[in-house]
Amino acid sequence: MSGVVLEPTFENHLEEGWARRALVEDVRHGLARPPFRLTPRWLYDERGSELFDRITRLPEYYLTEAEREVLRREADHIAELTGADTLVELGSGTSDKTHTLLRAFTAGDQLRRFVPFDVSEETLRDAARRVAERYPGVHVHGIVGDFTTHLAHIPTDGTPLVAFLGSTIGNLYEEERQAFLAMLGDRLAGGGWFLVGVDLVKPVERLTPAYDDSRGVTAQFTRNVLRVINRELAADFDIESFDHVAIWDPSLERIDIRLRAIGDHHVRIPGADLEVDLYDGAEIHVEVSTKFRISRIAADLERAGFAVRNVWTDRRGDFAVVLARA
Ligand code: SAH
Ligand code: TRP
Repeated sequence: MSGVVLEPTFENHLEEGWARRALVEDVRHGLARPPFRLTPRWLYDERGSELFDRITRLPEYYLTEAEREVLRREADHIAELTGADTLVELGSGTSDKTHTLLRAFTAGDQLRRFVPFDVSEETLRDAARRVAERYPGVHVHGIVGDFTTHLAHIPTDGTPLVAFLGSTIGNLYEEERQAFLAMLGDRLAGGGWFLVGVDLVKPVERLTPAYDDSRGVTAQFTRNVLRVINRELAADFDIESFDHVAIWDPSLERIDIRLRAIGDHHVRIPGADLEVDLYDGAEIHVEVSTKFRISRIAADLERAGFAVRNVWTDRRGDFAVVLARA
């Protein structure tokens, strides 16, 4: 491939107003009455993305290093097995770990195109520019969108490999995950590949600290969703009067992340034309982080029309990277 740095291109499916309308709808729907619930994509504005980046470097948050270990070890193998010429990355964020894959795919000169896909526009643009500069000859095309609604926009010509790292698939609720996988399976039916990183079920003593660290970074990250609502919808949440709570739900095998009101709150959210009473101890469900057994993710993939090709774990057995073909 040529050594020319190609200017990245972008498409945006969250045009003016879309994000705001979606936020208003989520807030109206989720905060009008208990059980209170918000959608996790609002956690990732610029500040949220920075806080998440700090989470990935916390000693308690073992996921990132475990996944990186697998990617480092298997990247060449993944490039060879798939023969992919297009790498799509969903929920790409900073695309930090993805460099391991990009190096392997460009070493063999097989990569034509890299397509990072994220709701967080600024983070996506920065990441796309860094990749374009580092891998001359690779066309970087960023997609600003929501992977639960805009999957139809990912390219499927050539041989695509869709990567979904960081156990972000675990942040979808069960029904959302099935719908997402079915959509992706359809989209890749021409013979595309899917590489998904999932955190594995393990003792609660290791799980909860990863979602409730001693420095309180995760707590700040969760509370950031209220900051976004205050800013975007002129709301008056008293952010510091909410506790961050991370609870292991053993029957659903997921961490349940909530904000719990300290004292009584009367919150005005003019942008959503809403007023909410949150009494002492009232909880807002912010996010789940599902933990998987290999059998569970394999069954989910097969139901969506994928054939599992490989499952790799880190040496400690904390995290799995699964390669499947549509
Ligand atoms: N892949 C990175 C980042 C994971 S954090 C890693 O493995 O470390 C999750 C990323 O998904 C964030 O960058 C966030 O902005 C993005 N995201 C969350 N919900 C999304 C949605 N519905 N559609 C698209 N991107 C989303
Ligand atoms: N995909 C990450 C995970 O499930 C997202 C995440 C990490 C997260 N820490 C969090 C979400 C804390 C909410 C709160 O591990």
